Amino acid sequence: MKIIPVKLGPRSYDIHIEPGLLKTLPKHLASFNKGQQWIILSQPDIIQLIGNDLQNSLLKSGFYCSIIPIPNGERAKSFDQYQKIIEAMVQAGCDRSTTLLALGGGVTGDLTGFIAATYMRGVDYFQIPTTLLAMVDSSIGGKTAINLKMGKNLVGSFYQPKGVWIDPDLLTSLPREERISGIGEIIKYGAIRDAPFLETLSTWLDHLETFPFTKAIEHSCTIKSEIVAKDEQEDHLRMILNFGHTIGHALEAHLQYGGLRHGDAVSYGMLCAGWISEQTGLLNSEERQFLEDTISKLPSPSLPDIDPNGVLQHISSDKKYRDGHLNYVLLSGLGNAVISNQISMALIAESLKVIL
Ligand code: GLY
Repeated sequence: MKIIPVKLGPRSYDIHIEPGLLKTLPKHLASFNKGQQWIILSQPDIIQLIGNDLQNSLLKSGFYCSIIPIPNGERAKSFDQYQKIIEAMVQAGCDRSTTLLALGGGVTGDLTGFIAATYMRGVDYFQIPTTLLAMVDSSIGGKTAINLKMGKNLVGSFYQPKGVWIDPDLLTSLPREERISGIGEIIKYGAIRDAPFLETLSTWLDHLETFPFTKAIEHSCTIKSEIVAKDEQEDHLRMILNFGHTIGHALEAHLQYGGLRHGDAVSYGMLCAGWISEQTGLLNSEERQFLEDTISKLPSPSLPDIDPNGVLQHISSDKKYRDGHLNYVLLSGLGNAVISNQISMALIAESLKVIL
């Protein structure tokens, strides 16, 4: 088993990665079991696929464990659902020793993390991500949130899990497009922090059918854990994880979060950010081309007809605005992300021509 530490002083924890891990999870969690209530929070499809089995194996191993289902899709991250789950936990007799297991993708992880952060002023939780995106990104680093009607993730906190348990075998149950989309976030790690990894990824992408997901997850988690350890609350360095996300999020929002997978949106956003990096003299044309060629090896779905002004409007309301400036993540050479607050809306608008 690969174990990657997330070094955060008293809030430190380990990321564990091993194909088939889910089957042996009760054994690994045994040292955390003090007879408290364990609650699996998960969405109906995942409960059917693996949640019921996980609950049964935990029960057989002496855990006092139940499941609280959450709705499918982003609506699980609403205030309404948050309240319902908290109330269900009170009714089930959960106390401050209760431990939550977030079994699912980013939605489940974000919601469970926020419930853990706030239930009786904080209970323990573990992340068990089931999507590639959650395995390499959202399950690590303690970002927890729910949505408001005005925007996603507007209510939340930094609240670290006690551990992350990743079973790459779970990816085989995902649609192929979902796996491909997640590779966009993996390319991001090479682009922002590790040029040799980007080169390796480019080679792996020549044979997509044999893409070594476990190795790619291990490497991505190592990079993410180092960044989070240096800047837990996104004061500076952690912002580089948003490479490709300014335009990526705006595309998703413009398409009302139904038309594009997150990883594909980030891939498109990285193409624009690469172009801006070249325009501002930070990347040379060869480097920009290499980034573009690598991203283009992913068979991402093509974009529908999109009004660039609509996308720009969403960028104006981006959370990454600070002190009236948009912090834009660019590449100063491959593998070296920098943050600029000098990028004009005009240049961002022009960069959209790369993808629209
Ligand atoms: N998903 C970006 C971060 O964790 O900071």
